[in-house]
Order: sequence, then structure tokens, then C-alpha cells
Amino acid sequence: MLEIKQTNDGSATLFNPELNEHYHSTFGAYNESMHIFIKNGLLSSLNNNIGILEIGFGTGLNAILTYEIALQKNLTIKYTGLELFPLNIEIISLLNYEKLIKPSNIAAFHKMHQLEWNIKTILNNQFHFEKINADLNQYAFTDSYDLIYFDAFGPDVQPEMWSGTIFKKLFATLNSKGTLVTYSAKGLVKENLREAGFTVTRLQGPLGKRHIIRAIKS
Ligand SMILES: C[S@@+](CC[C@H](N)C(=O)[O-])C[C@H]1O[C@@H](n2cnc3c(N)ncnc32)[C@H](O)[C@@H]1O
Repeated sequence: MLEIKQTNDGSATLFNPELNEHYHSTFGAYNESMHIFIKNGLLSSLNNNIGILEIGFGTGLNAILTYEIALQKNLTIKYTGLELFPLNIEIISLLNYEKLIKPSNIAAFHKMHQLEWNIKTILNNQFHFEKINADLNQYAFTDSYDLIYFDAFGPDVQPEMWSGTIFKKLFATLNSKGTLVTYSAKGLVKENLREAGFTVTRLQGPLGKRHIIRAIKS
């Protein structure tokens, strides 16, 4: 049974007691998302037209923060969130994410969660959206992407998600110069990313985390 937790920046997250894993950093869910996926992923891209794949759609926090930036910076984004265990709408309504975003974007957040799985939807001209209900270990990608938000549970609890096999599959879905960003800078993660063909750079982490990873298909 998932539990709601407050993180240190006031934003909520979920805790999965069976895995003993939080969905976000307990130092700040919002800060973590903004630092890793928005600042060092989305905003580091030089492109105005970006295809994003998120591994582990979960609460939709990364998706709605990306949506906000798309509108703010006039970007055109095709966003795909892959998720094996969709969360029910009741638990999403207990998170305080509406307070983190502009009131005018709250309806889009609700829509992301209400939409059916496995259907491509035009949320607006700047944001095309799809949620895929599938297991990354089994899924065969048909589309290609410029940027991957790799936000699986940690490599200690889900080592198969951080394997060379998975990173090779993700490498193959990326366009040339495509980027993967993730929160774990563990030695084995870097090794497996390099084995898959990525050029790996360690960047400064958000509060509570020394380093994060940006990996580029060069
Ligand atoms: C650390 S949480 C992050 C969730 C999300 N990015 C967010 O901001 O809420 C990891 C997510 O990966 C999902 N997941 C776990 N195993 C998966 C798999 N094999 N394939 C796809 N998603 C998976 C979990 O259900 C969970 O939603």
C-alpha cells in the first residue's frame, strides 16, 4: 500500500513500503525533478522541437513540469511516459502538485491522469502526450526520442532496469545526439551506460545528492 510523504521542499512524494523506495528524493521531490530532468535535461537541449520519453511516469510530476516549460519557452514537445504500475487517480489527488504549478496548467495535469493509456493525444499545439502501460523489460519501441528522463526505482531494488541490455535498448530509441538524464551516478550505472554506447558525464546533483548523470548518444 503506497503512502504519501512530505519531502523537505514541501512537495509530496509516494513511498512504496514493499520496495522501501520513495518515488522522489526525500530532500525535495520538486527540486529533484527541476534540477535533474528540467534543468539538466530539457533546458540543456538546444532544440525547440523535442521528443521526450520518460521511464517511470508515476505521479506525472516530471510530465507536468515539462508541460509548464513547453508553454513558458514556446517549445513543441512530444511526451511519452512509460509505466508498468499506473497509479490510481485517488492517490494522485492526495499529492499537492497543483500548488507547484500555475493555476492555468492544473487542468492539463488532471487530463494527463484521466486520459486512457496507449493513445496519443494532442493536449495542445505545443504538447502531444502519450502514456504507455508496459514493462520496460519487455517493451519494443517503435518511436524515436531526443531526450530520456530515466526515472526508474533505484538500481539496488531494480537492477535489471539499469542493465546494459536496457540501456542498449534505450540507446537504440534515441536520435543522434540524443540524451538520457538520470539521478543515479553509481559506478555500475555509468559502466552499463558506457557499454551501451553512451558518452557519460557526471553533473552536480540536487540538494542531498552529490552527482547525477547525463549520457549522450554522440
Ligand atoms: C522512482 S518512481 C518515479 C516515478 C515518476 N517519474 C514520478 O515522478 O512520479 C519509478 C517509477 O517506475 C515505474 N516502474 C517500475 N518498474 C517498471 C518497469 N519495469 N517498466 C516501466 N515502469 C516501471 C514505477 O511504477 C514508478 O512509477
